[in-house]
Amino acid sequence: MKKLYIKTYGCQMNVYDSERMAEALGGQGYTQVTAPEDADMILLNTCHIREKAAEKVYSEIGRLKPLKSANPDLKIGVAGCVAQAEGEEIMARAPSVDLVVGPQSYHRLPAMEEAVQAGQKALDTDFPEEDKFEHLKSRPKAKRAPTAFLTVQEGCDKFCAFCVVPYTRGAEVSRPVAQILTEAQDLVERGVREITLLGQNVNAYHGAGEGGDWSLAQLIRRLARVDGLERIRFTTSHPNDMDDDLIAAHGDCDKLMPYLHLPVQAGSDKILKAMNRKHTADSYIRLIERIRAARPDLLLSGDFIVGFPGETDADFEDTMSLIREVNYGQAYSFKYSTRPGTPAAERDQVDEDVKSERLAKLQSLLKDQQIAAQDAMVGRDVTVLLEKPGRLEGQMVGKSEYLHAVHMPGEGAQVGDLVRARVVESAPNSLAAVPLHRL
Ligand code: 5AD
Ligand code: SF4
Repeated sequence: MKKLYIKTYGCQMNVYDSERMAEALGGQGYTQVTAPEDADMILLNTCHIREKAAEKVYSEIGRLKPLKSANPDLKIGVAGCVAQAEGEEIMARAPSVDLVVGPQSYHRLPAMEEAVQAGQKALDTDFPEEDKFEHLKSRPKAKRAPTAFLTVQEGCDKFCAFCVVPYTRGAEVSRPVAQILTEAQDLVERGVREITLLGQNVNAYHGAGEGGDWSLAQLIRRLARVDGLERIRFTTSHPNDMDDDLIAAHGDCDKLMPYLHLPVQAGSDKILKAMNRKHTADSYIRLIERIRAARPDLLLSGDFIVGFPGETDADFEDTMSLIREVNYGQAYSFKYSTRPGTPAAERDQVDEDVKSERLAKLQSLLKDQQIAAQDAMVGRDVTVLLEKPGRLEGQMVGKSEYLHAVHMPGEGAQVGDLVRARVVESAPNSLAAVPLHRL
């Protein structure tokens, strides 16, 4: 058996893709190992969303290079969004790299691996006609963790002025319904009880199904009929693609969890316009009101960028007001940083110190809201999907329907069990509960 080490950066879609790459190379006789030193093939599944992403990949390759002297058979590959963005540049700048594969070409990995074994370099950053998912059918029927990601949509047509995704992942493409159902069924047979549907702009899903293109809400309602699948989540969404049916599903589809990641990025209309977000602060707030009317206990998550070009103190205060008005259960926030090739990269930039100051203020507010949302859970009953044993003897940990990490005495419960539990304590990043009964 040859040994494969995959290092995954970035979003959940990369986690999903890494699994698919491991399966594709499994067919070539590879098993996965957890240390790069043991590997015959190292794949870096890269992310391009953060600043200097490419530079960081080049330094990682530099760190791995000495392993090639220790194991002359070792091959190094770069996958993911940096591979897509840099392409041949990687081969030119880093001669120790044998293989460069873009996110749309993973099904071609077996052939690329053969080429690499024959001493050639292999590069593929096409957006091929054939469907990579057809070729990446999950092979082994092995039991797996109770939660899984399932990519249903890739790419984005929104072109927010700060974002590289439309360039690295390309145009929006949705997988056909039948293919998704087959994969979901397969996951459930292997022990999965919760599926998170993934897409860069997942609520724009419009995959081919019976009677025409299906919306994300239709897909969720169909998946909810899969026996054994208990929980459905989806991420990440754009406010403009939250249609009425998807809002309604939050109220009437029991298996759709009351957690929504709905980035707004900023609270000033001027900045939203400059970001090309195509919505206003007010339309976002009204949208949240409608979703909360459907599902009052929804836990809302978001993404924020501070210091976008042109952001004044007043614009930043608008973002703070929006956060106060909406009240988030949790959120991610970033200082704007330039991505070469995106429109905002060419504009006059906000001072780095100003960005840092704003980010600290914003994160402090978001942290307060997160803690308040967690504290409010104490005394309430939640359903926890157990994911693994906890740090303490006999303890189990899992996630509530609101995606809070919850730990509790195991009392004989197994990984994969759904346990009704009463929250007794709120710690900074988790809740403590006592089990009531198994479901
Ligand atoms: N600068 C800062 N944050 C960014 N994001 C995307 N591009 C940039 C950028 N250039 C953030 C957005 C997005 C999240 C995944 O990353 O908030 O929603
Ligand atoms: Fe990027 Fe999301 Fe905007 Fe698409 S909707 S361009 S993925 S930030």
